Amino acid sequence: MNEKQRKATTLVNPSDKKSEKDYSKYFERIYMPPSLKDAKKRGKEEVKYHKDFEIPEQFKGMGNGRNFYIRTYGCQMNEHDTEVMAGIFMALGYEPTDRPEDANVILLNTCAIRENAENKVFGEIGHLKPLKMENPDLLLGVCGCMSQEESVVNKILKQYQYVDMIFGTHNIHRLPHILNEAYMSKEMVVEVWSKEGDVIENLPKVRKGNIKAWVNIMYGCDKFCTYCIVPYTRGKERSRRPEDIIQEVRHLAAQGYQEITLLGQNVNAYGKDFEDMEYGLGDLMDELRNIDIPRIRFTTSHPRDFDDRLIEVLAKRGNLVEHIHLPVQSGSSDILKIMARKYTREQYLELVRKIKEAIPDVALTTDIIVGFPNETEEQFEETLSLYREVEFDSAYTFIYSPREGTPAAKMKDNVPMEVKKERLQRLNNLVNEISAKKMKEYEGKIVEVLVEGESKNNPDILAGYTRKNKLVNFRGPKSAIGQLVKVKITKAKTWTLDGEMVEEAVEVN
Ligand code: SAH
Ligand code: SF4
Ligand code: F3S
Repeated sequence: MNEKQRKATTLVNPSDKKSEKDYSKYFERIYMPPSLKDAKKRGKEEVKYHKDFEIPEQFKGMGNGRNFYIRTYGCQMNEHDTEVMAGIFMALGYEPTDRPEDANVILLNTCAIRENAENKVFGEIGHLKPLKMENPDLLLGVCGCMSQEESVVNKILKQYQYVDMIFGTHNIHRLPHILNEAYMSKEMVVEVWSKEGDVIENLPKVRKGNIKAWVNIMYGCDKFCTYCIVPYTRGKERSRRPEDIIQEVRHLAAQGYQEITLLGQNVNAYGKDFEDMEYGLGDLMDELRNIDIPRIRFTTSHPRDFDDRLIEVLAKRGNLVEHIHLPVQSGSSDILKIMARKYTREQYLELVRKIKEAIPDVALTTDIIVGFPNETEEQFEETLSLYREVEFDSAYTFIYSPREGTPAAKMKDNVPMEVKKERLQRLNNLVNEISAKKMKEYEGKIVEVLVEGESKNNPDILAGYTRKNKLVNFRGPKSAIGQLVKVKITKAKTWTLDGEMVEEAVEVN
């Protein structure tokens, strides 16, 4: 947070709050909007590590007899932040509930990546109004990436005055203070730091499930792809220290977790901010490889920083799985240039070649944006041809959505929405075609499945994922849940595989 904001938030004095809403005063005294401009500044300040997070004594027991409910939107980073907030709530004495009607605090952990993601959240804030009116003691909070946008904060202040708290992605550890202030105050509590470069360790976490776990390895993003809001909402790139990550993974292994996903917006930049050592993602993976946990994944990779050292380490396999999510965004070098992705089509294909040479059976998945401003038919076709050439296992595909404050949002765009939709359809047809073909190759083969539970539609069927992240449905005993088992694939569908269990509890080296 910048100095102005620090002063602004410390000015809050609950005892002299007026009970009537007086927004002119409010804006001047306690509200300082998050600033995308400030968020963009990347200083040379050192990353500060706080290893001593504790729940302040005066807040312990705050949640006794109260329930919390968190609805999460967006990526795994947000899912994991929700686990941290759940950890803080529980440490304060709150209990979780999965029914908003039973909650004393409701949080919406939001995503700003595309406009439709934001619209969903505004719709939900609207739906929650009757609950809030019925129960004035209910606290309603908005957090996550949307809270980092000034336009969103202003809109909530004006149109959704019944919201009690807005706090940003850098303020999660402040949750006890924010809740306390919301209980004491009649005004909306807004605490959004535009800019923060710290890493906070020892945050409590309540993880969803006991089979797979997420572990942050770094925060933020400095890539500033011209269409993307994330560098503004998540702050500058900062890596956790390897010893803290290794300790967390060891601890999860000891607790019986079977799979870890290392998280970062651009995990290949891991370690670039260390001033005292040369240490990258390849080095980290090489150390994690020795921990006794069956599977380790990471997401998301940026092609630009994917180095040979990492490829060499991944080729050692063991618990490092043969699946890499490698967003390409476009197959046209011209579009990639305007997107500021900092690689060309040829460089991407060369990287894929190197990866496939080292790990011939690797499964590659990707993200693609269609209808970037002024994308021509030829440029779009280059995306199709690249897709065909790489033969990705699957892809997340999106129509470009302008995000306020990003450079691309200022570009004139001559591509009509119908054309964008039609391109998305054509791309999706290709994605489905290649996925179906790749899935077909599994028929008759035996795969290792980490069993996660009963299938959604049929409790007699178990479901789990392969090392390459394919969903497999098969008949098996409930005792297999949480275990690695061998399954023979009997039938391939476009997105899932059906099979029969052939052997229980596989030993993995
Ligand atoms: N850090 C990840 C991406 C996180 S966002 C990476 O760089 O790969 C996930 C995906 O959302 C992106 O890969 C991109 O394909 C898509 N995306 C991001 N901004 C978008 C926008 N403004 N419009 C449409 N899709 C977008
Ligand atoms: Fe966004 Fe690009 Fe950073 Fe990914 S690497 S989060 S797409 S700016
Ligand atoms: Fe969305 Fe923020 Fe993740 S914008 S995709 S929740 S980093």
